[in-house]
Amino acid sequence: GLPGRVTIYEVGPRDGLQNEKTVVPVAVKAEFVRRLVAAGLPVVEATSFVRPGWVPQLADAAELADEIADLIHDGRVPLPVLVPNERGLERALDKGLRHVAIFGSATETFARRNLNRGLDEQFAMFEPTVARAREAGVDVRAYVSMCFGDPWEGDVPIDRVVDVGKRLFDLGASQLSLGDTIGVGTPGHVTALLRAFADAGLPVDRLAVHFHDTYGQALANAYAALRAGVTTFDASAGGLGGCPYAESATGNLATEDLVWMLHGLGVESGVDLETLVSTSNWMAGRLGRPSPSRVVAALARG
Ligand code: HMG
Ligand code: MG
Repeated sequence: GLPGRVTIYEVGPRDGLQNEKTVVPVAVKAEFVRRLVAAGLPVVEATSFVRPGWVPQLADAAELADEIADLIHDGRVPLPVLVPNERGLERALDKGLRHVAIFGSATETFARRNLNRGLDEQFAMFEPTVARAREAGVDVRAYVSMCFGDPWEGDVPIDRVVDVGKRLFDLGASQLSLGDTIGVGTPGHVTALLRAFADAGLPVDRLAVHFHDTYGQALANAYAALRAGVTTFDASAGGLGGCPYAESATGNLATEDLVWMLHGLGVESGVDLETLVSTSNWMAGRLGRPSPSRVVAALARG
């Protein structure tokens, strides 16, 4: 049977806004985070403490943290931030953040393009980062990108994804988010990948899935993962998003589309769809383009 409740891990302010051409003013970002929390999202990934030149859209991470300092100190809703290395972690700790995410690649090419490190070298960068975070009592999530396919390398072997995932768990990550960065995965592939993690003895209850909707498969893939026992789903309000270092990536699975499906299945998320849709419509106004989410469009016509 399906679980009664799942966790939606909202990535709009980070994965969504990192790929917008418009640089959104910090006050708008702060309001976006506040509205998402008010809509009942239980986790909101807020920004990235990466090298500013690499993702100019999120170069204001420290200012954003100051704007939402009350939410950070309140601590009821985790506000994770991406940190690639010790420098990024340091910057996040300075702002009192208690949840960080490292982001590894399952392929050599994307590791080089996204992190300026080879596949093996990325672990040398993460190892002291995770160790320091854990010493500071900070929770560490780990992403694996290019779990299904890579724009430069094509198909990505499942055993390689499992190997990279295992190495990230071994470093001390509490949760692993399996990313279909360019959205090429299909439900059978999702099922096979999750089965391979289970067969390798890795805990399915500590896996999350992170789908991009490039080929319109994100929701079907989420359903396959739900059936396979996954209970944490990454999604982006209004379907914003992409990755600046993977040209073929479009937006994430829209949070609204996911919520509509879950609630239809009788699976609770704690999210108030109406508040969320009005948030996405408000953000679409700030960005000057309509949300690509089908549910946002349908309810706006409603
Ligand atoms: P690098 O150029 O090799 O940096 O970049 P470095 O380690 O050689 O350091 C050079 C200088 O940068 C030093 O300063 C560092 O202090 C500084 P200097 O001594 O020359 O004055 N520096 C930093 N400054 C501020 N914050 C930092 C930082 N790090 C170094 N954190 C690096 C290597 C990893 C930093 C770079 O490649 C980077 O920032 N990459 C991030 C790319 C990114 O954010 N991509 C998007 C997120 S991933 C994604 O979207 C996929 C995901 O959604 C899942 C999916 O869909 O698959 C998560
Ligand atoms: Mg992503």
